[in-house]
Amino acid sequence: MSRILLTRRIPSSVFSQLESQHTVDLNDRDSLPREELKRRVADKDALICVLTDKIDAEVMASGPALKVIATIAVGYDNIDVAAARERGIIVTNTPDVLTQAVAEFTWALILGIARRVGEGDRLIRAGAWKRWGLDFMLGTELHGKQLGIIGAGRIGRAVAAKAPAFGMKAVFARRSPDVKDPAYISLDQLLISSDVVSIHTPQTPQTYHLIDKKALARMKRSALLVNTARGPIVDEEALAWALDERLIAGAALDVYEKEPEVHPDLLRRENVLLAPHLGSATRETRTAMAELAVRNVLAVLAGDEPLAPVT
Ligand code: GLV
Repeated sequence: MSRILLTRRIPSSVFSQLESQHTVDLNDRDSLPREELKRRVADKDALICVLTDKIDAEVMASGPALKVIATIAVGYDNIDVAAARERGIIVTNTPDVLTQAVAEFTWALILGIARRVGEGDRLIRAGAWKRWGLDFMLGTELHGKQLGIIGAGRIGRAVAAKAPAFGMKAVFARRSPDVKDPAYISLDQLLISSDVVSIHTPQTPQTYHLIDKKALARMKRSALLVNTARGPIVDEEALAWALDERLIAGAALDVYEKEPEVHPDLLRRENVLLAPHLGSATRETRTAMAELAVRNVLAVLAGDEPLAPVT
């Protein structure tokens, strides 16, 4: 029997798989302060965490027996993977199982910002809807437009796969000039020519503020920016500036630079649709994510290869 620290509640059917084989220390609150995390990980062989738990070298040093860190997320920018590698700790994530949920939510945001859904809801609740009007709250049509996807991984491709249903043509930002597929264009071309730009790249030092003032200034004035990946990929200050200068028409965000804080200039804008990091938040997907994290841990503790090690 090994000892596992589980930093959040997971569905009981999944929890019981873990508890039937190992001793589980469950944090059943919605957050786990860093000092407490360090204290509780001290005697653990495995750690199952979420994206808001920062797992750095110091936390790993507090858990000298750790063999595996399993995050219940596809993104693992909260974990110092190099430090884990140095200590021989395996890091796992939960790819694939959340792809469709995030792709669906991305489309919810694309449609929501294009057709002013959040704005209309706010207007009605404020008692400000007076009558139907021929030119009232006009949005922008998606049919016949171009969707530019930054990040041609599983989620980016799943978002693109749904584009024909809305009559949109999808293009991807190409990293290597060798790619000959015409759907892959340079990031600059993508920014210049897309009507909707949607971000699906991981957060890395290379993608930090990838969408900055310069990138936003390249976009069409009528374009919409959508981010369901990670907040720091977009410079929020620059985005607020671009919206004020009317360099782009709107933005829909699920992720932020300093979650749960949102840049105040974005909060006050009607042409910004805001969601509280809900990309993978469906009952089915969150259960599948927890299950995959548990299976990763059970495999490592049994001396087997995990299903989803991070590379
Ligand atoms: C969610 O943001 C995830 O990375 O799974």
